[in-house]
Amino acid sequence: MHLETWPTRHYSEEDLRDTFDFMADRYVDQTVVVSRGHYPEWMNQVASLVKAWKPKSVADIGCGPGYLLRRLREAMPEADILGVDYSQKMLAQVPDDIPTAHEHLDDWADSEEKTYDALIMTFVLRDQPDPVQSLTKLQKRLAKNGHLVILETQTPDGWRHWGFNLYFHHWMPWWGRRVLAPDWHGAQDMAPYRWLSDSHRQWRESQSLPEVLRQLGYDGMESHRPPTDVVMLWSARATGLEAKA
Ligand SMILES: C[S@@+](CC[C@H](N)C(=O)[O-])C[C@H]1O[C@@H](n2cnc3c(N)ncnc32)[C@H](O)[C@@H]1O
Repeated sequence: MHLETWPTRHYSEEDLRDTFDFMADRYVDQTVVVSRGHYPEWMNQVASLVKAWKPKSVADIGCGPGYLLRRLREAMPEADILGVDYSQKMLAQVPDDIPTAHEHLDDWADSEEKTYDALIMTFVLRDQPDPVQSLTKLQKRLAKNGHLVILETQTPDGWRHWGFNLYFHHWMPWWGRRVLAPDWHGAQDMAPYRWLSDSHRQWRESQSLPEVLRQLGYDGMESHRPPTDVVMLWSARATGLEAKA
């Protein structure tokens, strides 16, 4: 597996941001429903995992409307917590007392030197046009010995993959078009649940994520969900990266 073989995708990032803007005020409610009630459990697991490392600073990259930011704030009231997102409408849902940066993650990674003890991306990496480039850029903002956390969709191993494929690639786009987002007036390929299904389909190299992280210089990759699950949750440490202050 070589980094160069990881998928890159061609689409307008501006169009995708419009899709997220459109979803902002219904995102949490609908994600709870579409995940069949599992979304809060996934977010709580991420918050508990991060809390156990006792980080002084945490950045949630692609924080959306801030569901996880709220959980992090409750779990670690003393920590310096930041949400980063390029959708202003998503950020408008984040409580005022949680600092946010309205930026594309690449620009945020380049924008200053401050590093974080933990960087989190939940349901964000899969949508990047060049995930390896995003992971590479974000290294600049991770403190030495800091932790990276990635939660993403996963086609489950075993018999569950039949039901998952039926749900994710047939039922969900139809449900999205007819019930969840019938008021979407943009291009059909950018319709929220069509996009979710397609972007998961293109996330086909996802099983090589730990190997990609290793090649980028991360260490201590740990999986926190089984391969039979519909989400993957990985953490990695920045021990092998260039020393940061
Ligand atoms: C699917 S939502 C996930 C939101 C949240 N992390 C969660 O798990 O509920 C993806 C979020 O990432 C943001 N996003 C996607 N790509 C981004 C990028 N390149 N830079 C900044 N934000 C991005 C979107 O605006 C959206 O709010």
